[in-house]
Amino acid sequence: MSAPRARDEILGYYALGLEQGRLDEDYFPLERARTQELVLRHLAPPPGVVLDVGGGAGAYAFWLAEAGYEVHLLDPVPLHVEQAEAASRTRAAGRLASARSGDARALPFADKGADAVLMLGPLYHLTALEDRLQALREALRVLRPGGLVLAAAISRFASLVDGLRGALFDDAAFAAITERDLADGQHRNDTGNPRYFTTSFFHHPVELAEEVAGAGFALVDVFALEGPGAYLVDFARRFADPASRERLLAFLRKVETEPALIGVSPHILAVARKPR
Ligand SMILES: C[S@@+](CC[C@H](N)C(=O)[O-])C[C@H]1O[C@@H](n2cnc3c(N)ncnc32)[C@H](O)[C@@H]1O
Repeated sequence: MSAPRARDEILGYYALGLEQGRLDEDYFPLERARTQELVLRHLAPPPGVVLDVGGGAGAYAFWLAEAGYEVHLLDPVPLHVEQAEAASRTRAAGRLASARSGDARALPFADKGADAVLMLGPLYHLTALEDRLQALREALRVLRPGGLVLAAAISRFASLVDGLRGALFDDAAFAAITERDLADGQHRNDTGNPRYFTTSFFHHPVELAEEVAGAGFALVDVFALEGPGAYLVDFARRFADPASRERLLAFLRKVETEPALIGVSPHILAVARKPR
């Protein structure tokens, strides 16, 4: 949200209400499974304080609250905060410690109070480098020494992957969007078609690593989330089959940090720690 127009476009896109339930559609269950796997691999067991910055309607916040963490969700989209608050109120267990409106660049949290910060969204909606660095520095400030940040990005090549998977290049407008994505990572969609997403920055995996380190974090690694699993044919049926799903996840683990493959993953995840 580097400029007011971009901010309005992003807020308008999410006001459509497409986010709640997204992770159950198409191949997004793979994004969720891989994100959860990487969170569990790096996060110390509960208790602990987790800040879900850009947490949307709470896709990961409720999962972590149910696991025993104290989870605070923050998101700039009023609908998302309302949805998270409403879902939290109706739960017998796994309620959020808080849900509030806010921006990753100015976190309303005290210094050194958090064990982990999830940033699964803000970095790709902050189209200017300085804004992304500011958001990462805010995460650094609120983490205790040794605390963990998990910061997601959309790959520079994500539109190419989606265009091939979904035969979207039949539309010249989508082809033009993809051309620009590949050229400079600045994703803009003025078609009015929400399928083509909204104002974003699509990172080259190397850029994500540089930004996280540049903000002062000690990088653990940059991981492919869906990896080449984004191309799995007949995804829903195969992912519902436990043996087929486990085979896919086992292969993805083998190549999750392979530099030659990371960019084909629509989403990538930087894991890093605040130096002690
Ligand atoms: C694709 S959604 C992801 C939601 C959830 N974290 C997930 O992974 O499913 C991206 C989220 O980032 C939020 N967002 C966009 N710009 C932000 C900013 N500057 N600060 C904090 N959150 C932001 C959006 O409101 C949206 O909820």
